[in-house]
This record gives sequence, structure tokens and C-alpha cells, in this order.
Amino acid sequence: MTFHRGRRLRRTATLRGLVRETAVSRHDLIQPYFVVDIDDSNFVKPIGAMPGQNQLGLNKLVERVGRAVDLGLAACILFGIPKTKDATGSQGWAENGIVQRAVSALKRSYPDLCVITDVCLCEYTDHGHCGLISGEEVLNDPTLDLLAKVALSHARAGADIVAPSDMMDGRVGAIRDALDGQGFTHLPIMSYAVKYASGFYGPFREAAESPPQFGDRKTYQMDPANRREAFREAQADLDEGADMLMVKPALPYLDILRDLRETTDVPLAAYQVSGEYAMIKAAALNGWIDEKTVVLETLTGIKRAGADLILTYFTENVLEWLE
Ligand code: PBG
Repeated sequence: MTFHRGRRLRRTATLRGLVRETAVSRHDLIQPYFVVDIDDSNFVKPIGAMPGQNQLGLNKLVERVGRAVDLGLAACILFGIPKTKDATGSQGWAENGIVQRAVSALKRSYPDLCVITDVCLCEYTDHGHCGLISGEEVLNDPTLDLLAKVALSHARAGADIVAPSDMMDGRVGAIRDALDGQGFTHLPIMSYAVKYASGFYGPFREAAESPPQFGDRKTYQMDPANRREAFREAQADLDEGADMLMVKPALPYLDILRDLRETTDVPLAAYQVSGEYAMIKAAALNGWIDEKTVVLETLTGIKRAGADLILTYFTENVLEWLE
């Protein structure tokens, strides 16, 4: 009687290690941070729905990132919470805006850290949408210039990668043109190319104080039901000059990640978003699942599906676990 003896290669930890196909490494992980424009630069405010994550004043951000860098942090992505919001989101491209100051402070302290910036308007507009509005409509083309200004201001502050997350059509091209025109031909764009209109962003909108004041984001973010559309979005961003693509959220869209892995050669990122973090945290805090096991399992699954990079709020924890 012969049959497949899969257990032969699972007998010891060493054997399992030898035949392991996928590994999560510190080089692949990007920690998101929320930095607040506030006079008290030592400000720390826990984010209710994201236990372990905080809104941070500038000093606290630099301190916290420093500890993570000591543990091997390779990259972070910054989200800013401005002092004032307006209809156009003008704090988004202010030379002394909070993200701009945070980028220069981090690069000064940790020159080797890859500092990525999220390029969007929703944290800076009083209506909470990712573009200019007219009545209840989010305007596409007039928003492009503003997004280009945001990206350029991040580039001038010293960002290593800019990551547009707004989902306006044509924004990657507009940003690429603006960067190239000002001497930033070397600066990569990681586009949130395949970003679904997801319920999993809920906790983020508390963290970034950016919920839309009316309506939702379904006229610009993708319908979760669509797969083929992901190819069109990805191709459009590549045609406009994106250097890397992102799929967001991660876990409910692993099929899309796998599809893109098989059809494009550029580096792919996946964003394990705030709601994915909150779910794991909530279950772990209740003692219903083991946090470390589940986190590493999800990250392994995301890599196995085809991601090269993962944006995850668990990055700092994973760095400790990998030690
Ligand atoms: C900004 C932006 C959002 C996220 C990243 N960039 C929110 C949104 O689109 O509503 C979500 C990240 C997360 O949930 O962790 N547009």
C-alpha cells in the first residue's frame, strides 16, 4: 500500500523549517503612525478601537520610532492630523505641516529608515472626503493638482516614497509629472491602486479623525464585488508611472493579490488595515485567540498570496517576536 506520506517532512521543527516556502521578515514590514499637530509635542492619545496604537505628538513619534528602529524597523508610513481643516485640505501641502515636519525630523534622526507618506486630502478637509467637493460630488480633475502639491511637499521634506491613497483617476500621472518637474525623478510612487470601499477602515477614521461628513467613499473607492476591475486600476497606475502597487484591505482580498502577482512584475504591497487589526486585538484581548500565532499566520498568508511588502499595525510587535 503506497500513499502520500506528507507527515514525513513535518516530523521535526528543523525539517519543517527546511521545507518552509514563505517567511515574514522585518525587511517586508511597514509600520503606520499617526502624528498630531499639537503644541504639546509629548502628546499621546490611545486610539480606542486600536489598542496599542496612539495618536502621537512630534517628540513622541520620534521617540517611538527610535525604539522600533532599534528593533530593526525598516520602514514606516505617516498619517497627519492637522490643527485646522478647511474645504481644500490646505494643511496637506503646508511647508510646515505636521507630516512635512515629521518627515524631516525622522530623516534627521534615522537616515536609514524608509519614510513613506500617505498622500490624501481626507485628513485635512473639513468635509472628510479625499478630494474637492461641489455640493455632494467629489470632483476628480480639480483635485489632481492638490494631490500633486501634497506629494511635492512631502518630497521636499525628504520622504523616501510617496503613497497616494485618494483613488482619484489620473493622480499617479499628476504626481509623477509634478515630482519629475521639480527634480524628484528618483522618488518612487507606491500607489494604493486597488483600494476597496471597505468597512474595515472604521477604526482608522477615528485614528486619523477623517470620517466623511456626508455620504461615503463609494464613488471613488472600488466595489468589493469586483475582481476584473482590479486589473484595470493596476494597469492604469502602472501606465501613469507607479513603481509599486498596493492592495487594500489585505485579508478579504487575498485572491486579488494573487491575481496581480500572476499578472504584474512590480513589487506588490498589501495593507492589513485598521479593522483587521481591531478584530485580531479584540479577540486576543478576550482570550479567544492567541495574538502572536494569529498575527504571524495572517502575515504569512498575505505573503503567500503574493505580497512583497505588508503595511501592518503589528509591525512593532513582529519585530519583537522575530528578535
Ligand atoms: C486615506 C486612507 C485611509 C486609510 C489609509 N489611507 C482611509 C480611508 O480611505 O477611508 C485606511 C487605513 C486603515 O484602515 O488602516 N484615504
